[in-house]
Amino acid sequence: DKGNYRHFMAKEIHEQPEVVGRTVAHYTDLSAGRVALPFELPFDPAKLDRITIVACGTAYIAGLTAKYWFERIARVAVDIDVASEFRYREPPMSRDGVTIVISQSGETADTLASLRYAKAQGQKIVGVVNVGSSTMARESDVQALTLAGPEIGVASTKAFTCQLAVLACLALAFARARGELTVEAEARYVAEFLALPGLMAEALKHERDIEAVAHDLARARDVLYLGRGTAFPLALEGALKLKELSYIHAEGYAAGELKHGPIALVDEDLPVIVIAPPDGVFEKTVSNMQEVAARGGRIVLIGGAGGAEAASLKLHASIVMPAMAPTFAAIVYALPVQLLAYHTAVFMGKDADQPRNLAKSVTVE
Ligand code: M6R
Repeated sequence: DKGNYRHFMAKEIHEQPEVVGRTVAHYTDLSAGRVALPFELPFDPAKLDRITIVACGTAYIAGLTAKYWFERIARVAVDIDVASEFRYREPPMSRDGVTIVISQSGETADTLASLRYAKAQGQKIVGVVNVGSSTMARESDVQALTLAGPEIGVASTKAFTCQLAVLACLALAFARARGELTVEAEARYVAEFLALPGLMAEALKHERDIEAVAHDLARARDVLYLGRGTAFPLALEGALKLKELSYIHAEGYAAGELKHGPIALVDEDLPVIVIAPPDGVFEKTVSNMQEVAARGGRIVLIGGAGGAEAASLKLHASIVMPAMAPTFAAIVYALPVQLLAYHTAVFMGKDADQPRNLAKSVTVE
Protein backbone atom coordinates (compact mmCIF):
# COMPACT_ATOMS: atom_id res chain seq x y z
CA ASP A 1 0.00 0.00 0.00
CA LYS A 2 1.48 3.32 -1.11
CA GLY A 3 -0.68 5.36 1.27
CA ASN A 4 -0.86 8.92 -0.02
CA TYR A 5 2.29 8.60 -2.08
CA ARG A 6 2.64 8.23 -5.84
CA HIS A 7 5.36 5.62 -5.49
CA PHE A 8 6.61 3.15 -2.92
CA MET A 9 9.96 4.87 -3.17
CA ALA A 10 8.49 8.20 -1.99
CA LYS A 11 6.72 6.45 0.86
CA GLU A 12 9.89 4.61 1.86
CA ILE A 13 11.98 7.80 1.76
CA HIS A 14 9.48 9.48 4.07
CA GLU A 15 9.39 6.50 6.45
CA GLN A 16 13.06 6.92 7.29
CA PRO A 17 12.77 9.06 10.43
CA GLU A 18 10.52 6.38 11.91
CA VAL A 19 12.40 3.25 10.85
CA VAL A 20 15.85 4.65 11.67
CA GLY A 21 14.48 5.72 15.07
CA ARG A 22 13.16 2.20 15.63
CA THR A 23 16.43 0.59 14.52
CA VAL A 24 18.54 2.85 16.74
CA ALA A 25 16.23 2.17 19.71
CA HIS A 26 16.76 -1.58 19.15
CA TYR A 27 20.57 -1.24 19.36
CA THR A 28 20.92 1.27 22.19
CA ASP A 29 19.82 1.96 25.73
CA LEU A 30 18.92 5.55 25.04
CA SER A 31 18.20 6.46 28.66
CA ALA A 32 21.55 5.09 29.83
CA GLY A 33 23.31 6.75 26.90
CA ARG A 34 24.91 3.45 25.88
CA VAL A 35 24.94 1.13 22.91
CA ALA A 36 23.20 -2.14 23.82
CA LEU A 37 23.45 -4.74 21.05
CA PRO A 38 20.44 -7.08 20.96
CA PHE A 39 22.76 -10.13 20.69
CA GLU A 40 25.96 -11.53 22.15
CA LEU A 41 29.05 -11.29 19.96
CA PRO A 42 30.67 -14.72 19.49
CA PHE A 43 34.11 -13.05 19.33
CA ASP A 44 36.04 -10.41 21.21
CA PRO A 45 36.29 -7.14 19.21
CA ALA A 46 39.38 -6.24 21.28
CA LYS A 47 41.29 -9.10 19.63
CA LEU A 48 40.64 -8.05 16.02
CA ASP A 49 43.28 -6.29 13.98
CA ARG A 50 40.98 -5.96 10.98
CA ILE A 51 37.49 -6.72 9.79
CA THR A 52 36.21 -7.44 6.29
CA ILE A 53 33.02 -6.00 4.82
CA VAL A 54 31.39 -7.43 1.68
CA ALA A 55 28.20 -6.35 -0.11
CA CYS A 56 26.76 -5.16 -3.45
CA GLY A 57 25.29 -1.91 -4.73
CA THR A 58 23.84 0.40 -2.13
CA ALA A 59 24.60 -2.09 0.65
CA TYR A 60 28.28 -1.88 -0.37
CA ILE A 61 28.05 1.91 -0.11
CA ALA A 62 26.67 1.54 3.44
CA GLY A 63 29.71 -0.62 4.21
CA LEU A 64 32.09 1.94 2.73
CA THR A 65 30.56 4.62 4.97
CA ALA A 66 30.95 2.35 7.97
CA LYS A 67 34.64 1.85 7.18
CA TYR A 68 35.19 5.48 8.24
CA TRP A 69 33.39 4.82 11.54
CA PHE A 70 35.11 1.51 12.36
CA GLU A 71 38.52 2.95 11.59
CA ARG A 72 38.10 6.33 13.28
CA ILE A 73 35.99 5.40 16.31
CA ALA A 74 36.91 1.75 16.97
CA ARG A 75 40.48 1.99 15.55
CA VAL A 76 40.09 -1.27 13.67
CA ALA A 77 41.24 -1.56 10.04
CA VAL A 78 38.58 -2.42 7.48
CA ASP A 79 38.96 -4.28 4.18
CA ILE A 80 35.93 -3.74 2.00
CA ASP A 81 35.03 -5.04 -1.41
CA VAL A 82 32.08 -5.62 -3.71
CA ALA A 83 30.97 -9.22 -3.41
CA SER A 84 31.38 -10.08 -7.11
CA GLU A 85 35.12 -9.28 -6.88
CA PHE A 86 35.65 -10.63 -3.39
CA ARG A 87 34.26 -14.10 -4.09
CA TYR A 88 36.46 -14.78 -7.10
CA ARG A 89 39.53 -13.06 -5.74
CA GLU A 90 39.50 -15.56 -2.90
CA PRO A 91 41.58 -13.43 -0.55
CA PRO A 92 43.50 -15.05 2.31
CA MET A 93 41.66 -14.57 5.60
CA SER A 94 42.64 -15.28 9.19
CA ARG A 95 40.86 -18.15 10.95
CA ASP A 96 39.75 -15.96 13.84
CA GLY A 97 38.60 -12.86 11.97
CA VAL A 98 35.21 -11.28 11.43
CA THR A 99 33.37 -10.60 8.17
CA ILE A 100 30.35 -8.32 7.98
CA VAL A 101 27.98 -8.95 5.07
CA ILE A 102 25.33 -6.34 4.33
CA SER A 103 22.17 -7.07 2.35
CA GLN A 104 18.61 -5.79 2.34
CA SER A 105 17.18 -8.97 0.83
CA GLY A 106 19.64 -11.41 2.38
CA GLU A 107 19.52 -13.33 -0.92
CA THR A 108 21.95 -11.53 -3.27
CA ALA A 109 23.90 -14.32 -5.01
CA ASP A 110 27.39 -12.77 -4.87
CA THR A 111 27.05 -11.62 -1.26
CA LEU A 112 25.82 -15.05 -0.20
CA ALA A 113 28.72 -16.74 -1.99
CA SER A 114 31.11 -14.34 -0.21
CA LEU A 115 29.53 -15.15 3.14
CA ARG A 116 30.08 -18.86 2.49
CA TYR A 117 33.66 -18.29 1.36
CA ALA A 118 34.51 -16.25 4.48
CA LYS A 119 32.85 -18.84 6.70
CA ALA A 120 34.84 -21.64 5.09
CA GLN A 121 37.99 -19.63 5.87
CA GLY A 122 37.01 -19.75 9.55
CA GLN A 123 35.61 -16.22 9.85
CA LYS A 124 32.71 -15.34 12.13
CA ILE A 125 29.93 -13.75 10.09
CA VAL A 126 27.91 -10.74 11.13
CA GLY A 127 24.94 -10.39 8.76
CA VAL A 128 23.41 -6.93 8.55
CA VAL A 129 20.17 -7.94 6.84
CA ASN A 130 16.64 -6.61 6.53
CA VAL A 131 14.80 -9.86 5.85
CA GLY A 132 15.03 -11.96 9.01
CA SER A 133 13.94 -15.18 7.27
CA SER A 134 16.54 -14.85 4.47
CA THR A 135 19.33 -17.28 3.63
CA MET A 136 22.02 -14.82 4.78
CA ALA A 137 20.26 -14.23 8.09
CA ARG A 138 20.16 -18.00 8.60
CA GLU A 139 23.79 -18.60 7.69
CA SER A 140 25.26 -15.71 9.72
CA ASP A 141 26.71 -16.26 13.19
CA VAL A 142 25.18 -12.95 14.28
CA GLN A 143 21.93 -11.64 12.83
CA ALA A 144 22.18 -7.88 12.99
CA LEU A 145 18.72 -7.04 11.68
CA THR A 146 17.79 -3.69 10.20
CA LEU A 147 14.25 -2.81 11.17
CA ALA A 148 13.35 -0.99 7.96
CA GLY A 149 10.27 -3.12 7.25
CA PRO A 150 9.59 -4.44 3.74
CA GLU A 151 11.27 -2.36 1.03
CA ILE A 152 9.27 -2.52 -2.22
CA GLY A 153 10.92 0.15 -4.42
CA VAL A 154 13.77 -1.31 -6.45
CA ALA A 155 15.98 1.59 -5.33
CA SER A 156 17.18 0.97 -1.81
CA THR A 157 16.40 3.92 0.50
CA LYS A 158 15.20 3.11 4.01
CA ALA A 159 17.19 -0.14 4.08
CA PHE A 160 20.32 1.94 3.39
CA THR A 161 19.85 4.40 6.27
CA CYS A 162 18.91 1.55 8.62
CA GLN A 163 22.08 -0.32 7.55
CA LEU A 164 24.04 2.83 8.40
CA ALA A 165 22.35 3.03 11.81
CA VAL A 166 23.16 -0.62 12.65
CA LEU A 167 26.75 -0.29 11.43
CA ALA A 168 27.23 2.90 13.48
CA CYS A 169 26.03 1.04 16.59
CA LEU A 170 28.37 -1.88 15.82
CA ALA A 171 31.27 0.55 15.42
CA LEU A 172 30.52 2.05 18.84
CA ALA A 173 30.16 -1.39 20.45
CA PHE A 174 33.52 -2.44 18.96
CA ALA A 175 35.07 0.84 20.11
CA ARG A 176 33.91 0.29 23.68
CA ALA A 177 35.18 -3.30 23.73
CA ARG A 178 38.55 -2.10 22.42
CA GLY A 179 38.89 0.57 25.10
CA GLU A 180 38.61 3.33 22.51
CA LEU A 181 35.48 4.97 23.91
CA THR A 182 35.04 6.94 27.11
CA VAL A 183 31.67 6.84 28.84
CA GLU A 184 31.22 10.53 27.95
CA ALA A 185 32.02 10.02 24.28
CA GLU A 186 29.62 7.09 24.08
CA ALA A 187 26.85 9.14 25.70
CA ARG A 188 27.52 11.95 23.23
CA TYR A 189 27.31 9.64 20.23
CA VAL A 190 24.14 8.01 21.54
CA ALA A 191 22.61 11.49 22.00
CA GLU A 192 23.46 12.11 18.34
CA PHE A 193 21.58 8.91 17.42
CA LEU A 194 18.60 10.11 19.45
CA ALA A 195 18.54 13.33 17.42
CA LEU A 196 18.59 11.55 14.03
CA PRO A 197 14.82 11.05 13.45
CA GLY A 198 14.10 14.75 14.12
CA LEU A 199 16.95 15.85 11.86
CA MET A 200 15.78 13.50 9.11
CA ALA A 201 12.23 14.88 9.37
CA GLU A 202 13.73 18.36 9.14
CA ALA A 203 15.74 17.37 6.04
CA LEU A 204 12.57 16.09 4.34
CA LYS A 205 10.99 19.54 4.68
CA HIS A 206 13.35 20.77 1.97
CA GLU A 207 11.65 18.67 -0.67
CA ARG A 208 10.42 21.73 -2.64
CA ASP A 209 13.99 23.09 -3.05
CA ILE A 210 15.13 19.62 -4.06
CA GLU A 211 12.37 19.38 -6.68
CA ALA A 212 13.56 22.65 -8.20
CA VAL A 213 17.08 21.23 -8.56
CA ALA A 214 15.66 17.96 -9.91
CA HIS A 215 13.76 19.90 -12.57
CA ASP A 216 17.08 21.22 -13.77
CA LEU A 217 18.92 17.87 -13.49
CA ALA A 218 16.28 16.26 -15.68
CA ARG A 219 17.80 18.14 -18.65
CA ALA A 220 21.39 17.10 -17.94
CA ARG A 221 23.32 14.57 -19.98
CA ASP A 222 25.89 13.85 -17.28
CA VAL A 223 26.06 14.68 -13.58
CA LEU A 224 29.07 14.62 -11.27
CA TYR A 225 28.73 14.02 -7.51
CA LEU A 226 31.58 14.95 -5.17
CA GLY A 227 32.19 14.40 -1.46
CA ARG A 228 34.95 13.81 1.10
CA GLY A 229 35.01 11.59 4.19
CA THR A 230 31.64 9.89 4.70
CA ALA A 231 30.21 12.25 2.04
CA PHE A 232 32.35 10.37 -0.51
CA PRO A 233 30.29 7.15 -0.30
CA LEU A 234 27.21 9.39 -0.44
CA ALA A 235 28.51 10.83 -3.71
CA LEU A 236 28.69 7.26 -5.04
CA GLU A 237 25.17 6.63 -3.76
CA GLY A 238 23.84 9.83 -5.39
CA ALA A 239 25.31 8.82 -8.74
CA LEU A 240 24.02 5.24 -8.43
CA LYS A 241 20.52 6.40 -7.54
CA LEU A 242 20.39 8.94 -10.39
CA LYS A 243 21.60 6.35 -12.90
CA GLU A 244 19.21 3.63 -11.87
CA LEU A 245 16.11 5.86 -11.68
CA SER A 246 16.56 8.51 -14.39
CA TYR A 247 19.07 6.74 -16.72
CA ILE A 248 21.17 9.94 -16.73
CA HIS A 249 24.88 9.17 -16.74
CA ALA A 250 26.31 10.12 -13.34
CA GLU A 251 29.59 9.59 -11.57
CA GLY A 252 30.50 9.86 -7.91
CA TYR A 253 34.03 10.85 -6.99
CA ALA A 254 36.07 11.61 -3.90
CA ALA A 255 36.36 15.41 -4.18
CA GLY A 256 40.14 15.17 -3.87
CA GLU A 257 40.25 13.04 -7.02
CA LEU A 258 38.79 15.87 -9.10
CA LYS A 259 42.16 17.05 -10.37
CA HIS A 260 43.19 13.53 -11.23
CA GLY A 261 40.79 13.26 -14.14
CA PRO A 262 37.11 14.16 -13.79
CA ILE A 263 37.75 17.92 -13.85
CA ALA A 264 38.19 17.51 -17.60
CA LEU A 265 34.42 16.91 -17.79
CA VAL A 266 33.54 20.28 -16.22
CA ASP A 267 31.90 22.85 -18.51
CA GLU A 268 28.86 25.17 -18.33
CA ASP A 269 26.51 22.28 -18.91
CA LEU A 270 27.71 19.94 -16.21
CA PRO A 271 25.75 19.93 -12.94
CA VAL A 272 28.13 19.13 -10.06
CA ILE A 273 26.41 18.04 -6.86
CA VAL A 274 28.73 18.71 -3.94
CA ILE A 275 27.85 16.99 -0.67
CA ALA A 276 29.68 18.94 2.02
CA PRO A 277 28.44 18.94 5.60
CA PRO A 278 30.26 21.32 7.94
CA ASP A 279 32.95 18.91 9.13
CA GLY A 280 36.73 18.69 9.40
CA VAL A 281 37.23 18.43 5.62
CA PHE A 282 34.73 21.12 4.56
CA GLU A 283 37.46 23.64 3.69
CA LYS A 284 39.15 21.10 1.45
CA THR A 285 35.90 20.53 -0.40
CA VAL A 286 35.48 24.31 -0.78
CA SER A 287 38.73 24.45 -2.72
CA ASN A 288 37.43 21.72 -5.05
CA MET A 289 34.24 23.75 -5.53
CA GLN A 290 36.40 26.73 -6.49
CA GLU A 291 38.08 24.62 -9.14
CA VAL A 292 34.69 23.64 -10.55
CA ALA A 293 33.36 27.23 -10.38
CA ALA A 294 36.44 28.57 -12.19
CA ARG A 295 35.50 26.34 -15.13
CA GLY A 296 31.86 27.40 -15.19
CA GLY A 297 30.44 24.18 -13.67
CA ARG A 298 26.97 24.46 -12.19
CA ILE A 299 27.41 23.69 -8.50
CA VAL A 300 24.59 22.43 -6.34
CA LEU A 301 25.71 22.37 -2.71
CA ILE A 302 24.10 20.04 -0.20
CA GLY A 303 25.48 21.48 3.02
CA GLY A 304 24.83 23.24 6.32
CA ALA A 305 23.20 26.65 6.77
CA GLY A 306 26.47 28.58 6.57
CA GLY A 307 27.87 26.41 3.79
CA ALA A 308 26.98 28.61 0.83
CA GLU A 309 28.45 31.77 2.43
CA ALA A 310 31.51 29.92 3.68
CA ALA A 311 32.17 28.72 0.15
CA SER A 312 31.79 32.38 -1.04
CA LEU A 313 31.08 31.22 -4.58
CA LYS A 314 28.32 31.69 -7.03
CA LEU A 315 26.32 28.51 -6.60
CA HIS A 316 23.68 27.33 -8.99
CA ALA A 317 21.57 26.13 -6.05
CA SER A 318 21.94 25.04 -2.49
CA ILE A 319 20.02 22.53 -0.42
CA VAL A 320 20.35 23.43 3.23
CA MET A 321 20.47 20.70 5.85
CA PRO A 322 19.82 21.29 9.57
CA ALA A 323 22.77 21.80 11.91
CA MET A 324 24.12 18.56 13.37
CA ALA A 325 27.24 16.88 14.72
CA PRO A 326 29.33 15.64 11.78
CA THR A 327 30.12 12.00 12.64
CA PHE A 328 26.84 10.42 11.54
CA ALA A 329 25.63 13.25 9.29
CA ALA A 330 25.64 10.88 6.30
CA ILE A 331 22.49 9.25 7.73
CA VAL A 332 20.66 12.59 7.32
CA TYR A 333 22.39 13.78 4.14
CA ALA A 334 21.32 10.55 2.41
CA LEU A 335 17.75 11.88 2.25
CA PRO A 336 18.23 14.86 -0.10
CA VAL A 337 20.45 12.62 -2.24
CA GLN A 338 17.62 10.08 -2.58
CA LEU A 339 14.96 12.75 -3.17
CA LEU A 340 17.01 14.37 -5.90
CA ALA A 341 17.19 11.14 -7.90
CA TYR A 342 13.53 10.36 -7.22
CA HIS A 343 12.19 13.73 -8.38
CA THR A 344 14.47 13.81 -11.42
CA ALA A 345 13.06 10.44 -12.50
CA VAL A 346 9.47 11.58 -11.88
CA PHE A 347 9.99 14.78 -13.92
CA MET A 348 11.31 12.66 -16.74
CA GLY A 349 8.30 10.36 -16.60
CA LYS A 350 10.32 7.32 -15.53
CA ASP A 351 8.95 4.61 -13.29
CA ALA A 352 10.74 5.23 -10.00
CA ASP A 353 9.58 1.97 -8.44
CA GLN A 354 10.44 -0.30 -11.35
CA PRO A 355 13.43 1.07 -13.29
CA ARG A 356 14.12 -0.71 -16.56
CA ASN A 357 16.48 -3.72 -16.53
CA LEU A 358 16.66 -3.91 -12.73
CA ALA A 359 15.46 -6.52 -10.24
CA LYS A 360 14.87 -5.86 -6.56
CA SER A 361 16.86 -8.87 -5.57
CA VAL A 362 19.76 -10.14 -7.68
CA THR A 363 19.67 -13.84 -6.89
CA VAL A 364 21.65 -14.92 -9.97
CA GLU A 365 25.09 -13.61 -10.93
O1 M6R B 1 19.39 -6.98 -1.29
P1 M6R B 1 20.78 -6.39 -1.31
O2 M6R B 1 20.95 -5.29 -0.31
O3 M6R B 1 21.86 -7.43 -1.19
O4 M6R B 1 20.91 -5.73 -2.75
C1 M6R B 1 22.12 -5.14 -3.15
C2 M6R B 1 21.96 -4.31 -4.39
O5 M6R B 1 21.42 -5.10 -5.45
C3 M6R B 1 21.04 -3.11 -4.18
O6 M6R B 1 21.47 -2.30 -3.12
C4 M6R B 1 20.94 -2.25 -5.46
O7 M6R B 1 22.19 -1.65 -5.71
C5 M6R B 1 19.84 -1.21 -5.34
N1 M6R B 1 18.96 -1.29 -6.47
C6 M6R B 1 20.35 0.21 -5.20
O8 M6R B 1 19.31 1.13 -5.08
